[in-house]
Amino acid sequence: MAQIYRAANFVRELEPEDIRVLVGIELGHRRFSHVPIEQISFYCRYPRPETQFRLDKLHKLGLLQRSSQLGYIGYQLIFESYDILALNALGEKEVIKAVGSPIGKGKESDVYFGQSPDGNEIALKIHRIGRTSFRKVRKLRNYIKNRKHISWLYVSRLSAESEFAALQRIEPLKLDTPKPFAQNRHIVAMGLIDGQELSTIPQLENPREILDEILMQTERFFLEAGMIHCDLCEFNILINPDNEIRIIDWPQWEESTHPNAFSYLKRDLVNIQTFFTKNYNTTFEIDEVLRSCKLID
Ligand SMILES: Nc1ncnc2c1ncn2[C@@H]1O[C@H](COP(=O)(O)OP(=O)(O)OP(=O)(O)O)[C@@H](O)[C@H]1O
Ligand SMILES: [Mg+2]
Repeated sequence: MAQIYRAANFVRELEPEDIRVLVGIELGHRRFSHVPIEQISFYCRYPRPETQFRLDKLHKLGLLQRSSQLGYIGYQLIFESYDILALNALGEKEVIKAVGSPIGKGKESDVYFGQSPDGNEIALKIHRIGRTSFRKVRKLRNYIKNRKHISWLYVSRLSAESEFAALQRIEPLKLDTPKPFAQNRHIVAMGLIDGQELSTIPQLENPREILDEILMQTERFFLEAGMIHCDLCEFNILINPDNEIRIIDWPQWEESTHPNAFSYLKRDLVNIQTFFTKNYNTTFEIDEVLRSCKLID
């Protein structure tokens, strides 16, 4: 069974005391890569025997890593226990009722259908940075650079926070980017988009219009929201059944005032230009867009 469904089952099956011990370890992770039992006991305010009993149970269920490498016995959350905490919180906040089938599985995220308590379908994007690659963490390198111990759970949470902030900030532009419903830890709950990745569409009927729309939206993100997508490409543009575009996948975004704004925006535009030239023999002037965005004279 996929990890997320196991986690969803655990949300139902674990006792509140187990969840509290997981939260205790999470709090301890601010200071420890492997959290000692005294700290866990302190954070969850359970006596040591109760804490130990819960830790043994969670360890047996495969939800914790235990290590004595540092000269003491310490506990570490794993992605599955982090999933449990996030799903539990989103359930309590009445954002989700159930996790459905997968929509897309990437290197740095898993996206699933979710069901809201009122029965609507939503999208759940679970950020999993560090699982296999380092591609998307440029923004997070400052954090990583300064630490011996890299908490991939924390980095995944930063990625989800970054994406949620982006979705909130672009919502007023009404460009039908996914609606930001909620974010907890490494999970973003957002509006579901009925669409297909531009990269998988065999032949667009109206490539010129689609290209112009992508450029118009890119300019508006920059000029009206002060944002650069920074991972704009055919994989992150969905085309809906009415042949309209929806730009997704925002964790990498940067401010338009960033010192590297010019090269970030240019790189996004080059990706788009390369795709449209190769597949549709359709092109545009990158400098014109850079000029509209006042990055060149
Ligand atoms: N809100 C949404 N509605 C519908 N489908 C979505 C939504 N968000 C993401 N998807 C689907 O899931 C896929 C992966 O999502 P996204 O691009 O945001 O993550 P990713 O981290 O880039 O994954 P990858 O590593 O594969 O690039 C998308 O290409 C799209 O097909
Ligand atoms: Mg993507």
